[in-house]
Amino acid sequence: MRLLFLGPPGAGKGTIAELTSQAYDIPHISTGDIFRMNIRNKTDLGTQVQQILASGDLVPDSITIKMVHNRLAEDDAQKGFILDGFPRTIAQADALAVFTAIDHAVNFIASRELIIKRLSGRRVAKESGKIYHMTYNPPKVDGKCDITGEPIIQRPDDKEDAVANRLEVYEQQTAPLISYYREKGLLRDVDASGTPEEIFDRVEKLIQ
Ligand code: AP5
Repeated sequence: MRLLFLGPPGAGKGTIAELTSQAYDIPHISTGDIFRMNIRNKTDLGTQVQQILASGDLVPDSITIKMVHNRLAEDDAQKGFILDGFPRTIAQADALAVFTAIDHAVNFIASRELIIKRLSGRRVAKESGKIYHMTYNPPKVDGKCDITGEPIIQRPDDKEDAVANRLEVYEQQTAPLISYYREKGLLRDVDASGTPEEIFDRVEKLIQ
């Protein structure tokens, strides 16, 4: 199964991608996570993209396309994958079509109000990569990751200014992909409200 998850920031793509990855035993490939891992490890790529991510702008296509091309060439991606956060521009979608076909583009539909609620309450654990929400999915011990015990923090791009920019960038550069995949007959719209289990059920029905 070769899936890609489209949708605005905070729609819950990463959360549902994790459930899908476990259920179908295919890797969850999040371009945002790969960039953040590089920032954490202070690689050249990480240094190059740190400010871009903090502001909510997009990393240049040339860098992102090469990174995804390399990742999809790895062994675990040969049985299928979930691309979360890629493509985000028409140029990225055209490049993807050259190096692989996909089965479904799942489009997560969420209201602005829901997006803001989800992003403002999100907290993450850098080491374990686990995603929490202060209201919907808090850790067992206040402020600490369930897996590693490390402090959980707010992503720099979840601050108010960066969120506003990310939503703008989404509308300008990524939303056109909805028509792009609809015209190819690959788009599957999913209502992204409700619990993760309810949304995952909807996604399963769409892709089966
Ligand atoms: P990326 O990490 O991809 O960020 P995003 O697309 O903005 O998506 P998010 O991670 O914010 O949201 P999500 O939809 O995954 O929601 P989540 O499941 O976490 O990209 C970050 C940056 O990297 C970009 O701004 C850009 O700079 C760069 N980048 C990445 N890809 C790029 C590309 N292709 N080209 C160029 N640049 C690129 O959920 C959010 C919160 O809600 C969590 O707290 C979660 O616990 C909670 N939640 C989720 N679902 C539910 C639910 N059903 N009920 C209750 N709470 C829920």
